[in-house]
Amino acid sequence: MTKETIAILGGTGPEGAGLAMRWAAAGYPILIGSRDAARAEATAADLRSKVPGATIDGAVNREATEKADLVVLTTPYAGQAPTLADVAPALQGKILVTAVVPLDPAAKRRVPNMPGGPAAVQAQQQVGEGVRVVAAFQNVGAHQLQDPNAEVDCDVLVCGDDRAAKDAVIALAEAGGMRAWDAGGLANALIPEGLTPVLININIRYKSKGAGVRISNVNPPAA
Ligand SMILES: NC(=O)c1ccc[n+]([C@@H]2O[C@H](COP(=O)([O-])OP(=O)(O)OC[C@H]3O[C@@H](n4cnc5c(N)ncnc54)[C@H](OP(=O)(O)O)[C@@H]3O)[C@@H](O)[C@H]2O)c1
Repeated sequence: MTKETIAILGGTGPEGAGLAMRWAAAGYPILIGSRDAARAEATAADLRSKVPGATIDGAVNREATEKADLVVLTTPYAGQAPTLADVAPALQGKILVTAVVPLDPAAKRRVPNMPGGPAAVQAQQQVGEGVRVVAAFQNVGAHQLQDPNAEVDCDVLVCGDDRAAKDAVIALAEAGGMRAWDAGGLANALIPEGLTPVLININIRYKSKGAGVRISNVNPPAA
């Protein structure tokens, strides 16, 4: 079966590149998106050297979105609105997965006030109902993703208002070696977005890099 092509906007950063590496290793064609074509291609070349035989190309964010079946957003929160403004027409009809965490750059250990609601809900409002927005991967540290020998030791909470889109993202997480759970509607993304500063705080306090969350006492459905 042909695997869907995944564009990762902001894929030149550690989180997007880490997800790209996992999905490329699982056989998904990857498009690394960037504001700059040369930066995108440099990251794509680096990933090709790490995952021999994988299909990984670079493009500016809009071109990557146009060519992809499914799009993942991994920019900082400050980059979310300008990136979505650039790619929104090309996103229509597709699933947008957002891993964006709103962090206060001056206080990354503190959960910020979000008067406009979770970043994922803001993304949905911006791109419109023609795009199925799913929030996921906000609590998966980039260094775990980027270590090909590391098992990702945390769960993925998947929030969205479209069940089929969430199931597609859960399958994608599993393909990347992660365990994922349907965690409710898109508004619930407030919690995984808020958990990341909590985990950053724990990492700093306990001199760790990979604090994560696990859901206990639930049996996932049989595959
Ligand atoms: N790093 C982690 O461990 C981790 C874990 C969980 C969640 N997250 C979340 O995942 C997202 C990505 O994390 P990251 O550490 O990979 O971020 P990052 O390195 O700071 O940024 C990723 C990429 O986003 C693009 N970008 C930066 N500022 C932008 C702007 N103002 N407008 C448009 N694009 C911009 C840049 O790509 P170009 O310059 O090439 O366009 C950059 O390489 C963030 O929201 C973060 O909170 C990160």
